[in-house]
Amino acid sequence: MSFQQPVTHIQGVSLLSIIEEFGSPVYVYDANKIIQQIQSLKNAFDGTDNTIKFAAKALTNVQVLKLMKQNGVGVDVVSFNEGKMAELAGFLPEDIMLTPSNVSRAELQAAVETGYQLNLDSIPAIETFGQLYGPTKKVAVRINPGVMAGGNYKISTGHSQSKFGIAIQQLPELLTIVDRYKININGLHVHTGSEITDVGVFMQVADILLSTANQFDQLEFIDFGGGFKVAYKENDRVTDIDLLGKSLVKKFNDFCLRYGKKLKLYLEPGKFLVSEAGYFLTTVTVVKPTPTITFIGVDSGLNHLIRPMMYDAYHHIMNISTTQAETATYNVVGNICETDTLGAERILPITKVGDILSFYNAGAYGFTMASNYNARVRPAEVLVENGKARLIRRRENLDDLLRTQIL
Ligand SMILES: Cc1ncc(COP(=O)(O)O)c(C=O)c1O
Repeated sequence: MSFQQPVTHIQGVSLLSIIEEFGSPVYVYDANKIIQQIQSLKNAFDGTDNTIKFAAKALTNVQVLKLMKQNGVGVDVVSFNEGKMAELAGFLPEDIMLTPSNVSRAELQAAVETGYQLNLDSIPAIETFGQLYGPTKKVAVRINPGVMAGGNYKISTGHSQSKFGIAIQQLPELLTIVDRYKININGLHVHTGSEITDVGVFMQVADILLSTANQFDQLEFIDFGGGFKVAYKENDRVTDIDLLGKSLVKKFNDFCLRYGKKLKLYLEPGKFLVSEAGYFLTTVTVVKPTPTITFIGVDSGLNHLIRPMMYDAYHHIMNISTTQAETATYNVVGNICETDTLGAERILPITKVGDILSFYNAGAYGFTMASNYNARVRPAEVLVENGKARLIRRRENLDDLLRTQIL
């Protein structure tokens, strides 16, 4: 994507008309961009039996999940409730993969009894599964390959200090439990982290996973996770999807020949499918010069877009209300009673109250990480599909904030 050319329209629909119709702030998603990303991933992994399983936590709106399903994409969920949302979108239980963290016995049982493909990430959870079901049900295992990779420490999940997965060094222990309860391990899984640019890292992890796979003789699939990087700013390094696809498909097919069975290859992207499809539109409520910095305050904050604070993430910001050439440097800040800098030292056209600022890459981990902090309501979500904008989540109101409180 070019960050120089402002995006003012999606499929011919102007972003300004969307905010006029649906109010501010609002998340807007471009269905065509999502479909384009799905297609490029499918093309890159052509040559093997593969399924893209959308990491639903990136953008859990049921209408987006429906769009995924319509375009032949499966789903990976991280909680039982996310699984229920996927079912509402039309996914069959057996097509839903649940990869929970710290799974409780109750959630484990609910998932198995509903028919989800469960993917467990600790030896105690595997043992519970074995005690409950023995060989009667299938389960996958998340492996921690012991590889440090990802955009930053918080989104690195496959290293030795990470809580995720069963450490590769604990394989003998895992095999003992599997053998004791005759557990049917039908899949192996890995998700090493988010925003991994180096194809070599994916290959290194694949080698670790595939050598582990030889220890299990009932496998049906291997899931290589997500973590593919897209551009958040001009000239940002991204994952070379075509190179990754070509290299991984070859390695995988060679493995299947040695294994003696054609397995399915699963991928689990979140950001890659939806990040660039999303724009978060906000309205400027104050322009505040100080002796050191000029602040632009918007009608939103870390309660709606937490990534800049949580991950030091950079989101490109565009003033879509003006075409004037004269610029100034601003800190764009939220309205939350915390330091919620959404963009520091941004060069923007001279901005005034009422202008609309558009935050790019807002499709992934934007709305889904939003909260009601400071008793502020969560924004609306709009999907642009077939040249039309439609509301896919209404804005909350005070009643929504009070619904669960005992008054
Ligand atoms: C288990 C699992 N799979 C897939 C993903 C998707 O990651 P990304 O959005 O970087 O592709 C995540 C995200 O953290 C995850 O935890």
